[in-house]
Amino acid sequence: MDLIKELLADHRKFNLAISKIQQYVLDREHRYFSDGRKAESSAKVLKHVQQLIDELHAHERREHEDLYPMILKFFPDLRGAIAEIELQHHGLEAAVAELGRIVRGEREASNREIAKRVMELLVLLKSHMRDEEKGLFTPILAAAQEAI
Ligand SMILES: [Fe+2]
Ligand SMILES: [Fe+2]
Repeated sequence: MDLIKELLADHRKFNLAISKIQQYVLDREHRYFSDGRKAESSAKVLKHVQQLIDELHAHERREHEDLYPMILKFFPDLRGAIAEIELQHHGLEAAVAELGRIVRGEREASNREIAKRVMELLVLLKSHMRDEEKGLFTPILAAAQEAI
């Protein structure tokens, strides 16, 4: 079950990154920063978002290439849960694709748009990780525990 533990460790890392990025995007009252503050924080936000996107790609690749085949082989009952999680992956990919264009400078975006898109990605990612852990990781770890 090392794979699940490693994926869970990634999730913890992503949650830390999310908290950090939120500090740059939102003020203390959890509103988007006013224009002056956003201007200086945008570069930092994009740097952190770039790193998050890279790590997220590697993580999702492992889920596709290693996790799903393992689940389909040993836990076929979770087939339906995989289908739901897959839908979320598509939503995440769309959010990442648009932000990626902005991060790479292929498209101009106002600071407010960056903040909004970043927050949308973070919210999607957070609930995705929660659902993945609840729908896939927890049942697998429980089954593995029973088998011992
Ligand atoms: Fe995932
Ligand atoms: Fe994941």
